[in-house]
Amino acid sequence: MEKILKGKPIASRIRKTIKELIVEHGLEPSMLLIQTGDDPASAYYVQNIISSGAKLGCKVELKNLPANLSAQDLKDVIAQANADPSIHGIMLQKPLPTQIPDAEAGTWIDPNKDIDSLNPTNLGKIILSMDSLLPCTPTAVLCTLRHYEIPVKGKHVLIIGRSSIVGKPLANMLLWKKPWADASVTVCHSRTENLNEMIQSADIVVAAIGVPNFVKADMIKKNAVLLDVGINEIINPDESQGYVGDIDYNSCFDKALAITPVPGGIGTVTTSLLFLNLLKASLAAKGTNKNIDDFLDLIFEEK
Ligand SMILES: NC(=O)c1ccc[n+]([C@@H]2O[C@H](COP(=O)([O-])OP(=O)(O)OC[C@H]3O[C@@H](n4cnc5c(N)ncnc54)[C@H](OP(=O)(O)O)[C@@H]3O)[C@@H](O)[C@H]2O)c1
Repeated sequence: MEKILKGKPIASRIRKTIKELIVEHGLEPSMLLIQTGDDPASAYYVQNIISSGAKLGCKVELKNLPANLSAQDLKDVIAQANADPSIHGIMLQKPLPTQIPDAEAGTWIDPNKDIDSLNPTNLGKIILSMDSLLPCTPTAVLCTLRHYEIPVKGKHVLIIGRSSIVGKPLANMLLWKKPWADASVTVCHSRTENLNEMIQSADIVVAAIGVPNFVKADMIKKNAVLLDVGINEIINPDESQGYVGDIDYNSCFDKALAITPVPGGIGTVTTSLLFLNLLKASLAAKGTNKNIDDFLDLIFEEK
């Protein structure tokens, strides 16, 4: 097994399949990307999505809305996109302004166009192991395990973080009865007692906390696999800006069996999965329903 679980080879595999399927099915996938306000981190992600879309042959239409928009304004924009057959996917860039109810905004998106899996219908289908558009970050974690052929079946996977976009859907996906899942899962959070002892017992640790370098070497079991979802902006000693994860990469490196880098790990895979969802949605709009499982098999069974 490789020690450094880089995201780039995984993203390349996913992108290759997306490009091939677009050509094979004569698709013109098109998405609406809604940005609210001018948060610099959001602006960075938005530009990344636009350039990824251009490379893949997917149209990304950006709608930049003012930070002071009302909930009804946003609902109207989404309703218009829901009704527009030329738009196959809708993504709402987070964070949303405080006057917009976060969870409710997900319910406004048509579940068939919900490529970031914010709608309760898609999130609910995960619990029932039904096919749906999948949340990108948890799927990126699963793709990393699958690409690097890390055994998951029967293993104790511990997730730190219980958010609705990462920890909770990931826990449910790891419980799926699939050859590449079938894990025993523990989810921890800021109220968990004896967190260190719990982390010590895990074969695979997924950190989605938002606290720089939170997980240290003395917390983990020897030969644990460490998957870092966190992306935290830091200021380096020389005052330059940098990014670190929730796992202290340098301190954990020797003790871990394998570890994802930050940047260059899970985050690198996430955007390509947004376009996999868009591909599924645009194919469905043409009348062909293909399970996300079929796409993943196609990506990971091809050597
Ligand atoms: N790579 C990607 O594509 C991607 C995508 C999304 C997010 N992220 C990154 O992943 C991280 C988490 O994001 P999120 O949206 O899931 O965050 P979030 O909604 O803020 O949730 C953070 C979770 O961590 C828990 N937590 C916080 N401090 C803790 C502590 N000291 N001990 C144990 N648990 C603690 C919180 O517990 P409580 O529930 O008790 O508050 C919460 O469940 C962030 O760094 C974010 O930037 C990356």
